[in-house]
Amino acid sequence: MIEVEKVGFSYPDGRLALKEISFQVAAGETVGLIGPNGAGKSTLLMHLNGLLGLPRKTGVIRIGGREVNDQNLLEIRRRVGLLFQDPDDQLFSATVAEDVAFGPMQLELPPKELEQRVQDALRAVHLPGFAARAPHHLSLGEKKRVCLAGVWACQPEILVFDEPTANFDPRGRREFIALCRSLPATKLIASHDLEMILALCSRVIVLDGGELVAVGETTAILGDEEFMLAHGLEKPHSLFHSHPHAHRAVPTVCQPANGMAKPAV
Ligand SMILES: Nc1ncnc2c1ncn2[C@@H]1O[C@H](COP(=O)(O)OP(=O)(O)OP(=O)(O)O)[C@@H](O)[C@H]1O
Ligand SMILES: [Mg+2]
Repeated sequence: MIEVEKVGFSYPDGRLALKEISFQVAAGETVGLIGPNGAGKSTLLMHLNGLLGLPRKTGVIRIGGREVNDQNLLEIRRRVGLLFQDPDDQLFSATVAEDVAFGPMQLELPPKELEQRVQDALRAVHLPGFAARAPHHLSLGEKKRVCLAGVWACQPEILVFDEPTANFDPRGRREFIALCRSLPATKLIASHDLEMILALCSRVIVLDGGELVAVGETTAILGDEEFMLAHGLEKPHSLFHSHPHAHRAVPTVCQPANGMAKPAV
């Protein structure tokens, strides 16, 4: 469904952000994209719906067999829904409802269906009663939820999420994971939230310094402590569970006299 072939990219200031990246994602797969700050994750994701194009791009990207180029950007953007890392890059309307409706409006849906999709999407991200709010007055986590609703409302075949759980509270994060599991789309998720990647992704792609340094099964790569540390990452706590002292890595809870539970230090 996604084919990336020897893709390279330099920003206008000359910074080489991607070097000869090649990988494929099959239909229905959920794949994680991990790597330290500045690795090139967001740059790569933006290429998938043609946001960063020629003349500084080399290589080929195909979506469902169709090459991403200036001639078919509209079709590509219908097929690939991109959740930006920074919600302020995605929100520009006067109200939340208008922002969520913007994407599906391009699909020329009947007004009733458009309205229904906006309502369903806001419900799915647990923002009931937010339709008339101004997006720029929302908290960071609320903004990210509005962006997610906007992408979800388009029901694209491919969902590309850049740091979807950043700024989510723990309940919102759990809800996101459940929502993501319920969606049949092909998914590519860039994140530093490695427990979420572990929960959702069967395979991961690792970038470092603009280069692809590994592609493979999630637990095999995330469980390789030496490899993870060498690339500015860490083996997730949950993968230490088989270790005899694993419980020490997880905060335990003690019960003080007043009955209030607090984390033991
Ligand atoms: N507009 C730009 N102009 C010049 N260089 C840029 C621009 N945007 C990003 N870069 C550089 O490109 C490289 C890749 O950045 P990118 O945002 O893709 O990294 P990332 O892996 O998404 O990082 P993070 O984990 O912080 O989100 C970095 O070195 C960054 O400084
Ligand atoms: Mg990024």
